[in-house]
Amino acid sequence: MKISRLQKKMGDFFLNIDSMKLEPGKVHGLIGSNGCGKTTLSKLIMGILTPDSGEIDYEGLTPRDITMTSQKPYMLHDTVYQNLIYPLTVRGIRPDEKEAEQWLSRCGLLDKKNQYARSLSSGEQQKLSFIRAMIFHPKLIIVDETLSNLDPDSTELFEKLILEQQEQEPVTWIVISHQLVHIRKICDRVNFLEKGRLLAEGTPEEILMHPSHPSVREFLSKTEIFYQNDGDTQ
Ligand SMILES: Nc1ncnc2c1ncn2[C@@H]1O[C@H](COP(=O)(O)OP(=O)(O)OP(=O)(O)O)[C@@H](O)[C@H]1O
Ligand SMILES: [Mg+2]
Repeated sequence: MKISRLQKKMGDFFLNIDSMKLEPGKVHGLIGSNGCGKTTLSKLIMGILTPDSGEIDYEGLTPRDITMTSQKPYMLHDTVYQNLIYPLTVRGIRPDEKEAEQWLSRCGLLDKKNQYARSLSSGEQQKLSFIRAMIFHPKLIIVDETLSNLDPDSTELFEKLILEQQEQEPVTWIVISHQLVHIRKICDRVNFLEKGRLLAEGTPEEILMHPSHPSVREFLSKTEIFYQNDGDTQ
């Protein structure tokens, strides 16, 4: 996917991305401070927002191939199972109950299959929204801070799910997270946004370990967690 001269004004905020590329089958991290435009960019890619100008070349992807999970996932007024298979039903695909149960089982939700989805804890809802995104074999998955409420074991499980998926049937991912340890582990490429602009793009090693852009350095210097968990600073 190629993004060119994409502009969107939202109140005082101005998103202005000259050029950005997403490589098929790769995991792209999207990082930057609160309010820098990560969610806005995701919504433009999803078609939830319309750009003021510019272009997104989807290179053959259609809205059916793209999905997004958010920090506050939307749950239908229905059971866990019905929520999980929803992306299949709307696409006219008959759900395979065994496969759906395997997904639930992998993230510890099988015994909650018939529970009212809105009564799940927020972390459980995030897990459900994550497997709901994966179940219909999309080609592009945008994960907007979905992992932020998860306990360490669950975060590890989802890192594993993403890496397994990439081994079996690579999908294009955009992973938005403030957990840079996590970004470093799973991403092939990292994009750094500041005040609506894409300031740096490269491998996790280049962006997170050897940042050349002063803004990236400043951003990283404030993320203590990253350096606490990983002594390998620049
Ligand atoms: N409808 C709107 N009207 C006015 N401003 C808006 C609107 N929607 C978003 N914004 C502003 O656009 C900016 C970018 O918001 P966005 O949600 O994309 O940030 P973000 O990078 O996802 O931040 P976070 O890390 O906190 O999730 C923010 O300053 C936000 O207040
Ligand atoms: Mg956001």
